[in-house]
Amino acid sequence: MNNYYITTPIYYVNDKPHIGHAYTSLACDILARFKRLDGFDVHFLTGTDEHGQKVEKSAQAKNINPQEFTDNVSQNFRDLADLMNFSNDDFIRTTENRHKQACQKLWQELEKNGHIYLDKYSGWYSVRDEAYYTESELIDKEGKKLAPTGAEVEWVEEESYFFDLSKWQDKLLKLYDENPDFIAPKSRRNEVISFVKDGLKDLSVSRTAFSWGVKVPNNDKHIMYVWVDALTNYLTTLGYPDEKNKKFEKYWGADLHMVGKDIIRFHAVYWPALLMASGLDLPKRIFAHGWWTNEGEKISKSLGNVIDPVDLVEKYGLDQTRYFLMREISFGNDGDFSKQAMISRTNSDLANDIGNFCQRSLSMVFKNCEGIIPNPNLNDGDNEIINNAKQCLETVRLNLDKQEFNKALESIWKIVGQANKYVDDNAPWALKNTDLDRMGTVLYTCGELIRIFGILLQPFIPNSASKMLDLIAIPEEQRTFKNINNSLQSGVKIDKPQVIFPRYVEQDDG
Ligand code: MSP
Repeated sequence: MNNYYITTPIYYVNDKPHIGHAYTSLACDILARFKRLDGFDVHFLTGTDEHGQKVEKSAQAKNINPQEFTDNVSQNFRDLADLMNFSNDDFIRTTENRHKQACQKLWQELEKNGHIYLDKYSGWYSVRDEAYYTESELIDKEGKKLAPTGAEVEWVEEESYFFDLSKWQDKLLKLYDENPDFIAPKSRRNEVISFVKDGLKDLSVSRTAFSWGVKVPNNDKHIMYVWVDALTNYLTTLGYPDEKNKKFEKYWGADLHMVGKDIIRFHAVYWPALLMASGLDLPKRIFAHGWWTNEGEKISKSLGNVIDPVDLVEKYGLDQTRYFLMREISFGNDGDFSKQAMISRTNSDLANDIGNFCQRSLSMVFKNCEGIIPNPNLNDGDNEIINNAKQCLETVRLNLDKQEFNKALESIWKIVGQANKYVDDNAPWALKNTDLDRMGTVLYTCGELIRIFGILLQPFIPNSASKMLDLIAIPEEQRTFKNINNSLQSGVKIDKPQVIFPRYVEQDDG
């Protein structure tokens, strides 16, 4: 069986989840579900990044100890996963023992292989970004030095362990060169290559100024740099350091690390260098998606325009939210959330295009065929649209292998458009009075299309897709992709169709 291992970044617990977190995990969930339906053995990992100065400070600000603080906030991310119907196979917390062991083992391997040394760090550090910056990277704002991300920086001078990152420049460039798909999209790949070509400095990988983190083996004063700790989570879930562990053998190196564009450098530069230095295999691909803005504005706490995924789900519905996030923008680019666009996708794509198609055709089966899927006598036109729909799976597969979620949905909606035209052209309501056999065939074809759309849409909108399949009584075991080439069974009794995609109607707040 083919294996597929996919990861989200692990989320900082300094705050509650927002749309950006939901977005990254949703993209992974769709790929994980798609691969499972396509016969792969999938491991889908998400979790929380609970160490570091930022988290320690957030706990202090709330006057509680960091463990209690992280227990609470981490739970919010688990709740989000439940709410959004994410199908992750593991949820990792970096405060777990299994993870600390993995970090310490990785460290020991790096040390054993001669890639770690003790020295002194002096330079700029941003707690918000948990990142080191050089003087030349800083920007000047009203006389104050800030990180290029706008975050505050502080001058740090302390004893520190270093990882010999500078030695990995050529090997990294060779890696990118030999594996053109290792970093996607292209713009990010170019950005990383030019960063590495500019030269790499050794990386400070421990801090002594705070204590909330994984201790460096044999030197308790030092806490591992939170990114070394965090990246290791991708190994922990597979049972590392036990490399003989079945999961490790099966799933490592990861097929895809999905990340946001802000953290590509950590994943595409530091992580492969750390893995090469410790003698481990590399992940196969890192995809960096874009960022959401809200009605054209950057999302930030200070602007008070943070979008809470819980609100979206409550207001518009879960699958409406999942559909919107994946359909609205081209994955990899930045995108804007607007209420107008959300409503339009909900009402036009879901309620009208696919919702009405199901509703009007199955209502006719219910009313005019005694609720029994008719026996068809398919002509070339009927077969053509059915085959187009079946072939759509291959297009979606190709799209998703490149993380082109919006294109995958567009491909499905192209056939949905053809399906609506098919009903209009064949007008089964008129055939009711003139040609009952033909009416039955047309309605059968619609049912067959609903079956194919239902199967194809399961990764994207799992609840609604399964309701679509329930409407035409498709047994659970006939819903995987290899069943797409089967045919809808005639003679099966269906229930009165229920509305699956309600229209969003604006409530009058006034
Ligand atoms: N803890 C690190 C990741 C460690 S992975 C070994 C981290 N956490 S985070 O909580 O700050 O961010 C997690 C993800 O959310 C990132 O991929 C980031 O790009 C994404 N987003 C945060 N804000 C976002 C938007 N406004 N829009 C889309 N995604 C954004 O970084």
